[in-house]
Formats: sequence, structure tokens, C-alpha cells
Amino acid sequence: MADTAYQQCIHPDCAATFEVDRVLTACPKCGALLDVQYDWDRLPVPRWADFEQRWASKGAQGRGRLDFSGVWRFRELLPFYGNDDRIVTIGEGRTNLQDARELARQIGFDPGNLFLQYEGLNPTGSFKDNGMTAAFTHARMVGARRVACASTGNTSASLAMFAAHAGLQGIVFIGSGKIAYGKLSQALDYGTLTLQVEGDFDACLRNLRDIVSEHPELGIYLMNSINPFRLEGQKSIMYRILEARDWRVPDWIVVPGGNLGNSAAFGKAFGELRQLGLIGRLPRLAVIQAAGADPLYTLYHEQGLRWNGGRWDHSLRDDLWAKNIAVRTVASAIEIGKPVNLPKCLRSLELMDGVVREVDDETILEHKALVGRYGFGCEPASAASVAGARLLREEGVIDADAEVVCILTGHQLKDPDATVRYHTGIDMMAAQETAPRCDPAGRASNRPIPVPDDLAAIVRVIEAH
Ligand code: F0G
Repeated sequence: MADTAYQQCIHPDCAATFEVDRVLTACPKCGALLDVQYDWDRLPVPRWADFEQRWASKGAQGRGRLDFSGVWRFRELLPFYGNDDRIVTIGEGRTNLQDARELARQIGFDPGNLFLQYEGLNPTGSFKDNGMTAAFTHARMVGARRVACASTGNTSASLAMFAAHAGLQGIVFIGSGKIAYGKLSQALDYGTLTLQVEGDFDACLRNLRDIVSEHPELGIYLMNSINPFRLEGQKSIMYRILEARDWRVPDWIVVPGGNLGNSAAFGKAFGELRQLGLIGRLPRLAVIQAAGADPLYTLYHEQGLRWNGGRWDHSLRDDLWAKNIAVRTVASAIEIGKPVNLPKCLRSLELMDGVVREVDDETILEHKALVGRYGFGCEPASAASVAGARLLREEGVIDADAEVVCILTGHQLKDPDATVRYHTGIDMMAAQETAPRCDPAGRASNRPIPVPDDLAAIVRVIEAH
């Protein structure tokens, strides 16, 4: 199967191809990003019905092990791995699509039309496991010894679990004070080497890329989403959404944007499904950034940067990158100033007739609380998708009767401090006794109420609410 898969430079004037088992993170000829591509004409054309069968035959071993995974259940759509034995899986991707009727009503959608794709249900609590299973499979194909990533937290948690599972040495680079404790605790618990770099995510990734290219003797395999195999796994999020809808395409996919790997993967997924004749039309794409970390919003929405058939204006990006704008947002997962997948995201936005918006921290936290209040739950970055959907609804870009899927990228328990701070005004990270205790001002905050150890008093408080 391997000769039907290859790597290809995304620049249309280069389009150089490379073997699937080479370890590359950029085109050796021109430096552009790479895709994993397939010779679909020489591969069996999958049918939706084949995938449906598999959920019934899932098991812990053999082929059932692959059917148990929400990524490898769709293996004909990412056929780069050669043979089944190479696949590294921990049962990732068993996530689901939730009909968020009450939330829909609250934020201006027709009930029954707003859905949440609940990626926090992955083994490490974020969508990253979808990509990690594919990248670890490739790492095993090429005999990697060490695996490493820069991370705002979730990638490191996911890498750490897969490395422990696959018996490889894991190394994670995290920015000082830039990571939610739930995520840091995972990397530590899974025994990965955790390097706290004095700097932000962009500094971590720059250091790691330099180490990989300047120190090949270390044998480090890079696990960030610049690795095209990661994105092959993340395509499966879209397959599961379609599966949950009996293969009907929704009108909109709304996703938070950080390093822009998801938006890159989603466009590739839908482009391939159309090419294979499995779908007839594409949903539109909305990428939502935090106002404190909004390079895509600046470039795409404000400055009009477009993919332009692959001949996009590099100078707009280079000028923005040269400003080294400091990024800061409560949604620490997407606190990224120089997203590496920008070109692929632009390509997806063109293919899916996309839009980009930004939302501020207060709005993010309010919508996180609304997601929680109406029976779901997510970390701050994920709530940007719901806040963005509401904004686009208010602008009239999305119609009330449109079918909209927001991606909830990470679990609520990833960042309990942000949640407690929002609802109580108490900073749990600061010294408990000396921490400032201000009244929470958030519109959706739900304060704990102090009560005496007295039954009658407690009953009075309950009756008053
Ligand atoms: N949501 C969550 C919860 C994330 O952890 C991330 C990225 C994103 C959204 C953004 O996704 O990069 O595909 O646009 N987290 C990375 C990390 C950067 O290191 O964990 P993207």
C-alpha cells in the first residue's frame, strides 16, 4: 500500500513529491509545508456502509482494535501506514456529536440545529489524540527513538500518553507559566521529559525545530501539527461528524484557531471526500481566534490575505511576524502568535468559503460557562467556537436554521483554575489566604454561596434561589 501514499509540497510551483517513509517537516526544495497524498485511483474506493459495519465489530485485539478507534475505523481514508501491525492506538476518537438544544435556544439558533462535537472525550481529554495516533504510527514506520513537541499543553499531554504506550522517549517543550495545570499534570504523570522554556509557545517551537534540523544525531521525531501525518488523523473528526448525521453534510463547521492544524485538516478531509464522490457539497468553515492572539484574524479578515491558488502574499505574513506581537489570552491553548499551518488554513478557507472572527476573553469565558450550564463542558479555548458561532449568527452570516457544528476541542477539567476564577473571582493559583477576592463580574458566573453550619439557614438559601 505504501507506494500509493507519498508526501507532496503544497506550493503549486514546486509540488515536489517524497516517499512516505521519509521524516520531513517542510519541503527540502522550497521550504513550504507538506501534505500526505494518495493515489486514489489505485486504492479501493471506500463506501460509508463499510465504516458503519465496524462499530459493531469493535474489540480489544486484532482488527477489532482498529475498529475500536474513531480514527482507524476510517483507515481507508488515511492509507499511509502500509500494514495494520504498525498502527499505534489507544482507542482514541471515541467521541460524539451532541445536539445542544437548550444552548441553541440561548444563543439564537433553532433548537435541533446546533451541535457540539465533543472531542474532550478522547483518552487524554483533547482532540490531539486523533492526530497523535497517526503521527506515532508514522514514527513507528520510520523507526524513531525519541518524539518531541512544543505545546500549550494538550499536545504535550497527548504525546506523553502515546510515548508511554509506545515505549518511546517523549520530550515536551512548554512555555514558562503558559500551561494549564491539568495538562502539565498529564505530561508529568506519563513520565515524559518536560522542558520549561523561558518564553512562549512560538519560542518553544522555534527551539524544537532548530534542534531537530541541527542535531539529527538525537533522532528526534517532531510531533507538532507541522508534521503532515498528525493532520491525517485529525481529518477523522469530520468523518465522525458525518457518521453521526447519517453522512449528511452540515452547513457550518466552527473551530477555534491556534496553530491552525485543525482547520488545515478539516479542509483536506472534505476536499478528499468530494474527490472520492462520498459527499456532494462542502460545509462552510469558521475559524475563531481569541482577540489576544489573533494573527489569522489580522491577516485574513483585516488585511485580506487569501490562499490565491497557493500564490499567497508572503510579505503580509512576514511583516506581521517581524512585529513579534506579544499574545495573551485566558484561552491558553490558543495563545499562539505565529501559527505554522497558516498556509494550509488559508487553503481550507478558500475551499470551504470560510470566515475568520475573533472573540475577547470575557466572551470566551461566558460561553464556556453557557456550554457548562446547558449540560456539556469544555476548556476556555474550545468555547471560542461557540462564542464565534453566536457572533456570526448575530451578524447574520449564519442563518438561524443553518445546521452548525462547533468543535469542543478540550475537556472542561483541563483548566479548572480558569473555571473557578470565573465563577468565584478567587485565583486558586495564588496563595490561598492572600489571594484577592473580588466579586465575579462575568454574566454567566455562578458563585458559591457561603452558608453557616445550620440547617434552617441552608434551607432559606435554597428556597431563595
Ligand atoms: N483547542 C485546544 C483545546 C487546543 O489545545 C488547541 C491547540 C487548539 C484549540 C487550537 O488548535 O492549533 O489546530 O488551531 N493546542 C496546541 C497544543 C497548540 O500545544 O496543545 P489548532
